[in-house]
Amino acid sequence: MASPEDYLRQDWRTVHDVPMVCAFSYNWERIENFQSRPDDIVIATYPKSGTTWMSEIVDMIMNNGDPDKCKRAAIFNKVPMLEFAVPGKMPAGTEQLAKKPAPRLVKTHLPVQLLPMSFWENGCKMIYVARNTKDVAVSFYHFDLMNKLHPEPGTWEQYTEKYLAGRVAYGSWYDHVKGWWEKRKDHPILYLFYEDMKENPKHEIRKVMQFLGKDLKEDVLDRIVYHTSFEMMKENPTTNYKMAPNDIMDQSISSFMRKGIAGDWKNHFTVAQNERFNEDYEKKMAGTTLRFRTEI
Ligand code: PPS
Repeated sequence: MASPEDYLRQDWRTVHDVPMVCAFSYNWERIENFQSRPDDIVIATYPKSGTTWMSEIVDMIMNNGDPDKCKRAAIFNKVPMLEFAVPGKMPAGTEQLAKKPAPRLVKTHLPVQLLPMSFWENGCKMIYVARNTKDVAVSFYHFDLMNKLHPEPGTWEQYTEKYLAGRVAYGSWYDHVKGWWEKRKDHPILYLFYEDMKENPKHEIRKVMQFLGKDLKEDVLDRIVYHTSFEMMKENPTTNYKMAPNDIMDQSISSFMRKGIAGDWKNHFTVAQNERFNEDYEKKMAGTTLRFRTEI
């Protein structure tokens, strides 16, 4: 059994060619052999793309917009992360999920090719949220500074090079967003964008509601918009990760609910870094129909 010295601030360990959070990488068979249920709802994202936001939205929709019911537990217990594991300290995501009543909400950052086969076989509904790469890089950097399950990110300059090379948890953002985009052609995947959610949350929440086969009244949708705003979720102890262990996520370094905007990259990128990202983007995203907005 691994202990904290084995995985805190340790480098990634490769799983099927993808850099994986060291603590999550042990006993990977638990992921490959995971048994889904047909009514599981999967929320998939590349890290820092709006996972927590979408998780709270889906939980609210499933609970008909009742904010009290949605405060029953911390977000990471209501919507367990499939691949999560901190050996010897916390129950693994797969163990948490095994005990959940249906319908289960399943969070994952896995690239499409690593999702357990059982989810495809059971035709589970999946919601994918994508966020523009520049804001993801900034958010991920701040997360790596405070999250001890990840290696130290180094300077912002060093980090951007690692990020572009896909040497960060879950590998390349570019492969991730494209992989899930292609998969939606033959599987029920609702593919949404963080920037659209920021611009018109009610419009995107309605799409999620319809995808989940629910019919909620306008005032309930308005309540969900209100309860899942950045400001409300930042103050809410069940969504702001203040209930997560402080020795793993040190929010005195950087808040989990940090800024919650589109376009924060402008406060961090140098002109040269921006040019480098744009040039790299053109190459890696050539040929895809996927379009991102880096500001709204
Ligand atoms: S994780 O750790 O990968 O699951 O993180 P994830 O939840 O995907 O992404 C965290 C970023 O999402 C922002 N966030 C929000 N933005 C707008 N509205 C709401 N309600 C919201 N909730 C979380 C959060 O602040 C992180 O982005 P940054 O840019 O770092 O602020």
